[in-house]
Amino acid sequence: MSDHHMKKSVSINNDIFEFYLSEKKIQTKIRQMARQINKEYRGKAPVFIGVLNGSFVFMADLLRYITVDCEVDFLKLSSYGHTKISSGKIRLLEDLNCDLKGRDIIVVEDIVDSGLSADFIIRLVRAHKPRSVKVASLLLKEAALKSNVKIDYIGFRIPHIFVIGYGLDYAQKARNLRDIYQLK
Ligand code: IMP
Ligand code: MG
Repeated sequence: MSDHHMKKSVSINNDIFEFYLSEKKIQTKIRQMARQINKEYRGKAPVFIGVLNGSFVFMADLLRYITVDCEVDFLKLSSYGHTKISSGKIRLLEDLNCDLKGRDIIVVEDIVDSGLSADFIIRLVRAHKPRSVKVASLLLKEAALKSNVKIDYIGFRIPHIFVIGYGLDYAQKARNLRDIYQLK
């Protein structure tokens, strides 16, 4: 049976979302990503920088598969407001609290759509003069391929759909869902 038929849909604010990606598939993918990071950062001590709010679930799971010395910090951006369409305006709501000079940085994103947020964060991080900056995103929408940002670790490439769950919200709801759902 395909993933698609295993679970029911959910309703949020009168919109119907259909099951899209299982918790199991997500975890398998994250383990693979962590294995690659552990290999590539052997002997290093990367700083993982999560982008709030969406990346907190992914960060928590990814970090627990990381075996190299590492640190974690978060920054908070606002771009989506309360809708399903990006405003395109990015505001920094909360800045970083750690010294990134000479460090190896891995930016952790839940999803990259237009790539505007990722581009904004990369510039912000680079201003701290780190040794290296890479980006890990659980999901990558095809629109991102048209932007200039390079996503180094990609969980799943998805089409232009709106997804929720596993940290991703719709008007701040649905972040608690263990699986990922797509807007019908
Ligand atoms: P970008 O700047 O267009 O790449 O958008 C990135 C941010 O928009 C992500 O970090 C998410 O917070 C949000 N976002 C983009 N697509 C979705 C989606 O399908 N569901 C929920 N949030 C999304
Ligand atoms: Mg986000």
